[in-house]
Amino acid sequence: MSRRRGKPSDLVGVQQTLTPVLKAKALDNRLPDPILGDEYAELAMRRLDPDYDSGRFGTSQLGLSAVVRAKAFDDWARSFVADHPDAVVLNLGCGLDARVFRIDPPAGVDWYDLDYPSVVDLRRQILPARENYTLIGADVTELAWLEDVPRDRPVLMIAEGLVPYLTEAQVWQLLTTVVDAFPSGQTAFDTVSVSAWRMSKWDPVARRYNARFECGFDDPAALADWHPRLEYVDEAPMNDAPELLAKAPTGVRRLYRVMNLLPGFRHSSRIVRFRF
Ligand SMILES: C[S@@+](CC[C@H](N)C(=O)[O-])C[C@H]1O[C@@H](n2cnc3c(N)ncnc32)[C@H](O)[C@@H]1O
Repeated sequence: MSRRRGKPSDLVGVQQTLTPVLKAKALDNRLPDPILGDEYAELAMRRLDPDYDSGRFGTSQLGLSAVVRAKAFDDWARSFVADHPDAVVLNLGCGLDARVFRIDPPAGVDWYDLDYPSVVDLRRQILPARENYTLIGADVTELAWLEDVPRDRPVLMIAEGLVPYLTEAQVWQLLTTVVDAFPSGQTAFDTVSVSAWRMSKWDPVARRYNARFECGFDDPAALADWHPRLEYVDEAPMNDAPELLAKAPTGVRRLYRVMNLLPGFRHSSRIVRFRF
């Protein structure tokens, strides 16, 4: 008898980090005026854990900055595919995020979502397929996956919640290989600060999932120096995003206001964009 693949219990280590961000998006969708408004997140979270919103912290909105982060990547992705209706989009470390459905890119765009095979198997059980959309089950650092992607068109590479889990050498390899492989494009990803990287070994969530950060950058814009064609474009706010402070429930908003007085917290995670 064959064992069914694609169960939540198949996820191990860093793969389990997809859950807290998904939960934040599911809870956002229940706000009267959501930031992201992602119905797929609620559906996927319920499939992962039918009781996710019960218990003491079941409806805590503390993770809302992850929702703001997703919205920043969405806004950049919408703008890129509007300017490049023949684009190739690489959404790396996709987890169970439904960005492709939120963006609903034009038919000329080929969209690739990549994550570990067990995450991709689970994703196939939970989220629907669609046209011009390919799921790649691979370790992102084993770059052979790139050989199956058309490389003669403008590319947008998004890595949301992924880079901190790679070593600096792996990030360098990924970034420079993608820039070399495509004629032009953009890349957007979030990084953590050096102190957030060092502290991650004490982070209870990271410890629970056995998923430590592997790199940190205090000046992520400087990663443009890694390749002569790479140019820093801009940064999107996260912990101090006006949208977060405007829309979060009162208690959460107060907490972010206080925490943001600490520069170490405000800049503990940054969302940056480059072009080439
Ligand atoms: C914090 S979750 C973010 C998921 C999704 N991007 C989101 O924001 O909802 C990190 C994701 O990166 C994936 N990941 C981490 N390291 C990876 C690797 N080396 N190759 C492929 N996926 C990886 C994990 O499996 C997980 O799904």
